[in-house]
Amino acid sequence: MFRRNILITGGAGFIGSHVVRLFVNKYPEYHIVNLDKLTYAGNLANLKDVEKCPNYTFVKADIADLDKMRDIIKEYKIDGIIHLAAESHVDRSIKDPFTFARTNVMGTLSLLQAAREYWESLPDKYNDKLFYHISTDEVYGALELTSPEGIESPFSTAASSDHHKAYGEDFFVETTKYNPHSPYSASKAASDHFVRAYHDTYGMPTIVTNCSNNYGPYQFPEKLIPLFINNIRKRKPLPVYGKGENVRDWLFVEDHARAIDTIFHKGKVADTYNIGGFNEWKNIDIIHVIIKTVDRLLGNPEGYSDELITFVTDRAGHDLRYAIDSRKLQRELGWEPSLQFEEGIEKTVKWYLDNQEWMDNITSGNYEKYYEEMYSGR
Ligand code: NAD
Ligand code: TYD
Repeated sequence: MFRRNILITGGAGFIGSHVVRLFVNKYPEYHIVNLDKLTYAGNLANLKDVEKCPNYTFVKADIADLDKMRDIIKEYKIDGIIHLAAESHVDRSIKDPFTFARTNVMGTLSLLQAAREYWESLPDKYNDKLFYHISTDEVYGALELTSPEGIESPFSTAASSDHHKAYGEDFFVETTKYNPHSPYSASKAASDHFVRAYHDTYGMPTIVTNCSNNYGPYQFPEKLIPLFINNIRKRKPLPVYGKGENVRDWLFVEDHARAIDTIFHKGKVADTYNIGGFNEWKNIDIIHVIIKTVDRLLGNPEGYSDELITFVTDRAGHDLRYAIDSRKLQRELGWEPSLQFEEGIEKTVKWYLDNQEWMDNITSGNYEKYYEEMYSGR
């Protein structure tokens, strides 16, 4: 008999697989049910090391299938939900916004409704239950880049100590007004609103967190960092959108997973926490770090792969700058990032180079065709 039955959605994806691994290993007294549709982004190879654990179950299902959500939540007597399943890539959302509305909005709503019906049917109702929704900083829109050369960051944290720059005075805080620009961020914003509405209307215990860009092992190679590592290895062009001036705030994925663990156990119901490592980088600068690291680890001379940099047409509606202020999480729950960015990038590049089979399995076949179509117009 397990002490808790926790449903993690999207557990076969990038961040979800790190959360599943952490919970399965750290909490043998919990039953972890990983629910995933296994879209192009879902890969059970991400969880090979935990698949045989006695406290782990995988269920293939679509979160937008309300009847199925009802059955699963009831069958496994779920008392906690960590919801990560989503369509997650901005470029795909520009091509196909409907899939994003279906999964991110209707899928989240189906999960909320199924949880509500089950929890309200129990004698103790919402007692000791939690619906924890994982969202993104992209819902806040874009910040100004008021200091293009960067200024000394007002924050000194483990994640940003060497580079330590901020590209503006403004940061996203938990009360920043939502202002999404892409179909992806609009769909995530809508799902966040539904989660909060289920708390305000039905009294469901909910928490929402908004995290900055993640990097690390098992990320699908359509996102900047794994895509560029793989392209350098294969001597393919590195498509830099616009002038590479956009700023992103990067957090190592295992630090996000640890934050999720902390917030799931200690977070205040109905509250919101921003998660980030105060680690802002211009795309072009991070691209140079990636090139340098991959070349060094492959034994290439310094600067060898610089020629692969190819400036291409900018992404439509490309948000200029994201920067998260995560001091509330640090202050209230004691979470801090554990890794310096330089360490995290080294670990990440090494992982992709050591796990070429994982990468090749994904990038062969259908994905190769999709990627060529997607970028043929650029
Ligand atoms: P991902 O694309 O790597 O994984 C998403 C997972 O969800 C996949 O395993 C996929 O199969 C599954 N999925 C998709 N549609 C589904 C459906 N209809 N039913 C069931 N499962 C479905 O995404 P990720 O980068 O791991 O992101 C996970 C969550 O974290 C998302 O909600 C995303 O918005 C959020 N987030 C991501 C980042 C980031 O930098 N990657 C940053 C902040 C927040
Ligand atoms: P991405 O990894 O897609 O994350 P997000 O759009 O959610 O921030 O992109 C990170 C940044 O890198 C973003 O500013 C877009 C840029 N980018 C490129 O310049 N070239 C690429 O091929 C990709 C995938 C992204």
